[in-house]
Amino acid sequence: MTMTFDFSGKNVFVVGGTSGINYGIAQGFARWGAKLMVASRKQDKVDEAVAGLKELGAQTGGTTFDVRDYAAVEAGFEETAKFFGGPIDILVSGAAGNVPGRLMDLSPNAVKAMVEIDLMGTFHVMRACYAHLAKPGASVINISAPQAFNAMSHQSPVCAAKAGVDMVTKSLALEWGPEGIRVNSISPGPIDGTEGMARLAPTPQIREAVTKSVPTKRMGTTDDIAKAAGFLSSDAADYVSGVVLPVDGGWGVSGASVVMTHAAGFMDKLKGG
Ligand code: COA
Ligand code: NAP
Repeated sequence: MTMTFDFSGKNVFVVGGTSGINYGIAQGFARWGAKLMVASRKQDKVDEAVAGLKELGAQTGGTTFDVRDYAAVEAGFEETAKFFGGPIDILVSGAAGNVPGRLMDLSPNAVKAMVEIDLMGTFHVMRACYAHLAKPGASVINISAPQAFNAMSHQSPVCAAKAGVDMVTKSLALEWGPEGIRVNSISPGPIDGTEGMARLAPTPQIREAVTKSVPTKRMGTTDDIAKAAGFLSSDAADYVSGVVLPVDGGWGVSGASVVMTHAAGFMDKLKGG
């Protein structure tokens, strides 16, 4: 990563920060000098992430909780506050679960798991973080998804939950703005090498179709998302709040036009183009 920010002296907590995109964000802040905490459900994943972030030179701690359990989330924030010994400057909330499937093929419990992790989990993290945020000055980032604004087959619980996440972001930008807390969402496009893409694009054919459907013709990297989180938490974004920032090579704007982009090729051929 060539982009540099200076987050030395800043406390950054990444919930769900032990793998994939959120771990990439934590790595970014580690390289930029921040002190870090990461949290997720599994102790082995937390241990591995903490070790990796320490290798980058960051003072790092970890804690385990399930975002569906409010009392556990609250306890995790108390532990985090003790580790930092001061307020949280940057909070990233990105824990999520995704079981792709048509609604009628998903059990009610699978639907519940996705909505409770993605949406209720966001509510829990937001509610528990508030007491510990730097006021003024905190940057809060929720990790959303294109499903929030583009309906997708096999994704109805995630679509509904992430749309909810974005409205939590916007509502809290209103509620917390007067105290100098900025709240934004990042909506990553298809990010290579992640669990999310392993579940949504499990074959080379689907991967290729996804890549072709991105206007910039590549999948994103976790670095792409880390840089956006760095920007949103930096002075450069001092006046940015309540925003859902797609970081997706233009994927999110396409919507139904993706079909027409493919159809355009056939139309050109019909016209002899
Ligand atoms: N296909 C269909 N149903 C599935 C499934 C699959 N691949 N995986 C889980 N489920 C169902 C389970 O059968 C269960 O329903 P049931 O009780 O009716 O049988 C329900 O989902 C909950 O599963 P469980 O494993 O008990 O939930 P959990 O709370 O331990 O895990 C998940 C949550 C299901 C979201 C799990 O996939 C997970 O931990 N995901 C995190 C990683 C992830 O999704 N990353 C991508 C982020 S975009
Ligand atoms: P990932 O590696 O599976 O990351 C999910 C993280 O959340 C892990 O650290 C996981 O660790 C943790 N987690 C899951 N359920 C949890 C729970 N109930 N409580 C606490 N922590 C929990 O997946 P990813 O693909 O990188 O996705 C990361 C984020 O980006 C998600 O919010 C996802 O919706 C979003 N996103 C991803 C893509 C993509 O292309 N991958 C695109 C758009 C948006 P444990 O298993 O230890 O709990």
